Amino acid sequence: MALLPILRFPDLRLKKIAAPVVRIDDSIRKLVADMAETMYEASGIGLAATQVDVHKRLVVIDTSEERNHLRVFINPQLGRCEGLQSGEEGCLSVPGIYDKVERAERITVDYLDLDGQPQSLTADGLLAVCIQHEIDHLDGKVFVDHLSQLKQARIKAKLAKQARVTA
Ligand code: NI
Repeated sequence: MALLPILRFPDLRLKKIAAPVVRIDDSIRKLVADMAETMYEASGIGLAATQVDVHKRLVVIDTSEERNHLRVFINPQLGRCEGLQSGEEGCLSVPGIYDKVERAERITVDYLDLDGQPQSLTADGLLAVCIQHEIDHLDGKVFVDHLSQLKQARIKAKLAKQARVTA
């Protein structure tokens, strides 16, 4: 396993639209293992392949408190979306920035598991938010794209300043 570098907003590669996974082979299994390691190491609750510059429709998530319930979604597709919730979101690609985003409260997602079997999951609360956030990444969207232009400009300025300080 290996830690993968995470792209940082406003890197334009975060805007790429990911292609469906055609075959679940050893390279996909290795990518999943590396993404999971990278997510746990960064204390994140989700990571999309887009964020590690692999433009395939693949997401890992673990919203459990014990950090021992890894979920893998291959070619995830949102089905039914119901209700609304609004909570503070953050993102490993937008370090140190948190803001409120409105999402569906309850969703159904269809996907393939690591064995290539079709699965369907209904989720609400944090897991539902996380799934919507990660599918956004696969579609080239970061959570700050849901915020006002003014907020986006402020976030870009703040991150540019951070990059200068740490460079
Ligand atoms: Ni994110």
